[in-house]
Amino acid sequence: MDTIAVLHGPNLNMLGRRQPEIYGRITLAEIDAALVARAAAAGLRVVTLQSNHEGELIDFLQGEGWSAAGIIINPGALTHYGLALRDALAALSAPIVEVHISNVYRREPFRHTSVVAPVATGQIAGLGWRGYLLAMEWLITHLQEPR
Ligand code: DQA
Repeated sequence: MDTIAVLHGPNLNMLGRRQPEIYGRITLAEIDAALVARAAAAGLRVVTLQSNHEGELIDFLQGEGWSAAGIIINPGALTHYGLALRDALAALSAPIVEVHISNVYRREPFRHTSVVAPVATGQIAGLGWRGYLLAMEWLITHLQEPR
């Protein structure tokens, strides 16, 4: 059974309480449950980690990322400066979808740069928590395409 690794970076454990006008009221547990359900319906397994620590995200990628068929990652603020995280992602061959709940390009200038984007397959930003589900949808169809 193919596995999708889902990573959430710093502060995303606070979803539901954190700036709901920007990030909505859904919790991380609810997002993960929706992803697990969608993946299961397509015969895929999900492994997930939220961490406030870049090194923990890297350890997870080094452990799970290499065997995963696809990666979904919202790096939180590490998006904008997490070069070690970027290097860990760059080492993987599985497709990587970078997800942002908010439209980072409509926000402060420091959010307009993603050091992860150049090593990601694609990016979804500004579509709320459903961006994660759209990322999963894309991975499901992508993995079903003949390779
Ligand atoms: C975010 C956008 C980042 O700039 C921010 O630091 C986050 C969340 C988003 O999902 O919109 O923590 O990645």
